[in-house]
Amino acid sequence: MNDERPVIETAGLTKRFKAVTAVDGLDLNVRHGEVFGLLGPDGAGKTTTIRMLCAIMNPSAGSPRVAGFDTVREPEEIKKRIGYMAQQFSLYGDLTVLENLTFFADIFGVGREERRERTARLLEFARLTEFQGRRAAHLSGGMQKKLALTCTLIHHPQIIFLDEPTTGVDPVSRREFWDILTELHLQGVTLFVSTPYMDEAERCSRVALMFEGRIVVCDTPKRIKGLVEGDLLELRPDRLREAARILAEQPGVLEIQTYGDLLHVFVDDAAHRAATLQQALTGAGIGVQGLRQTRPRMEEAFISLIRKRVEETEYGTSNT
Ligand SMILES: Nc1ncnc2c1ncn2[C@@H]1O[C@H](COP(=O)(O)OP(=O)(O)OP(=O)(O)O)[C@@H](O)[C@H]1O
Ligand SMILES: [Mg+2]
Repeated sequence: MNDERPVIETAGLTKRFKAVTAVDGLDLNVRHGEVFGLLGPDGAGKTTTIRMLCAIMNPSAGSPRVAGFDTVREPEEIKKRIGYMAQQFSLYGDLTVLENLTFFADIFGVGREERRERTARLLEFARLTEFQGRRAAHLSGGMQKKLALTCTLIHHPQIIFLDEPTTGVDPVSRREFWDILTELHLQGVTLFVSTPYMDEAERCSRVALMFEGRIVVCDTPKRIKGLVEGDLLELRPDRLREAARILAEQPGVLEIQTYGDLLHVFVDDAAHRAATLQQALTGAGIGVQGLRQTRPRMEEAFISLIRKRVEETEYGTSNT
């Protein structure tokens, strides 16, 4: 499915808004047929990156090429070849599902005959056929996202940019939406998807972790998870904060992360340390449940890598 042709290329892509550098020197190289994930918290610079790649906003520096064209000098060529589902996409609430699709077909100059065939196929594809007469405003959130996606696909783009397409949607609809993306991938479409959801990153062929305008790491999900040092122990202590404080002082503990009422403790060697950590807590009168070794997910890897980046930056400044 993948070949080596880059369809998205940037070198030192940067966007400055007065005092804020929203995107800071990105080097991206996305190949034909990839599902590329841009993962990052609020304000990381995901939307700004996507808008520059979609030739909607000019960069301050760096010259992105998308589908072989320069985003600044040849934006019209790019717009013909890409689909863009914006974070705040706009459907026409008063129009029906079918009328929305027809409207976007008009904008993209899709001819009459092609249009009939394509709208039918896309409605089927997104499992919206039986809702085609319903006004967009009366669809569920998940169905609205699917309709927005079909509108994005009406001119048969080969590269699709989706900016947080599943944010705020229930888990079942999220899964269904990703099933549709997987089908597009199997058809050879290149997907560039931003998301704040770590579990979605697992479905990408490669992921770039973005933080404060920069790429912290860019690799396959498997290799990113492999970057986390040490073994991971999970446990549910009675008194979370106190437990975290005590564990942080124990030998072999590399890092502690909190998830609800769970602690995730990175240690140099789980088999060697588990019993000692449990004793340290029970010795302090803290009950412990569910102590087990587990594998790091993208979420742990992401938090760990960002922490390291912040520490490096802090040490970097104090040394100068
Ligand atoms: N037009 C603008 N003028 C000034 N600052 C902006 C503008 N657009 C974005 N920013 C700033 O740039 C930074 C990155 O914003 P961006 O919207 O790209 O992040 P994001 O990763 O998409 O965040 P979110 O997850 O909230 O959508 C933020 O600090 C934001 O406030
Ligand atoms: Mg955004």
